[in-house]
Amino acid sequence: MAEKIYFYPIWLRLWHVINAVFCILLIITGVSMQYAFANPIVSFEKAVSIHNFSGIALTINYTIFLLGNIFTPNGNYYRIKLKKMRKKLWKQLMYYSIGVFKNEKAPYPINAERKFNPLQQISYIVVMYMAIPILFITGWALLFPEFILKGLLGFSGIFLTAQFHVLMGFLVTIFLIVHLYVSTMGTKPISNFKSIVTGWQEAH
Ligand code: HEM
Repeated sequence: MAEKIYFYPIWLRLWHVINAVFCILLIITGVSMQYAFANPIVSFEKAVSIHNFSGIALTINYTIFLLGNIFTPNGNYYRIKLKKMRKKLWKQLMYYSIGVFKNEKAPYPINAERKFNPLQQISYIVVMYMAIPILFITGWALLFPEFILKGLLGFSGIFLTAQFHVLMGFLVTIFLIVHLYVSTMGTKPISNFKSIVTGWQEAH
């Protein structure tokens, strides 16, 4: 029987499920507001209230992720070693795009020391330590626009803040689609989804 590792403690699973629910709500209501002129899924007013509430909840929930990664060993999986990183990323990309279809072995199999392959590690770091913080900082700024700089380099401060907010929103949406697809590449297509519910991951 394959070795099982307890990768996802309860705080991490709780953070993840709350984060997933609010991210999905934010994406649906965000897109809905963007296309308010074209018969949106949710009315503009409802979309604004759900979006604001979800953004606040997402920010509060983020502190679980941040504190968990500061005070528990889970943070070690986010410490990146840049040595040969380009080569490692390429190897993993080749595996995802070609190797996996030829039933090759994963170049960076998971074990107790390595929870994420290099591509997962970089994408989780970029999304969790860059995109999500920029999203909620710009989101809060748009909630209180009186605190935004009047202008920068000839552009209005509110315009720039909104552009960054939307750009990061698109990035997280693309991440989510890729994240769901890549998550099907466990021992079995369902294995990783089971792990994020039970906490236990099969080493492979
Ligand atoms: C329906 C929505 C989602 C599903 C089904 C899902 C599924 C999963 C699964 C199966 C894993 C474990 C596999 C792995 O180690 O990569 C995982 C981990 C993770 N997911 Fe998601 N995810 C969802 C949404 C999100 C969103 C919206 C984000 C961030 C914006 C996110 C960020 C992460 C991170 C950072 C981890 C690694 C956590 C850790 O172990 O420290 N996920 N997710």
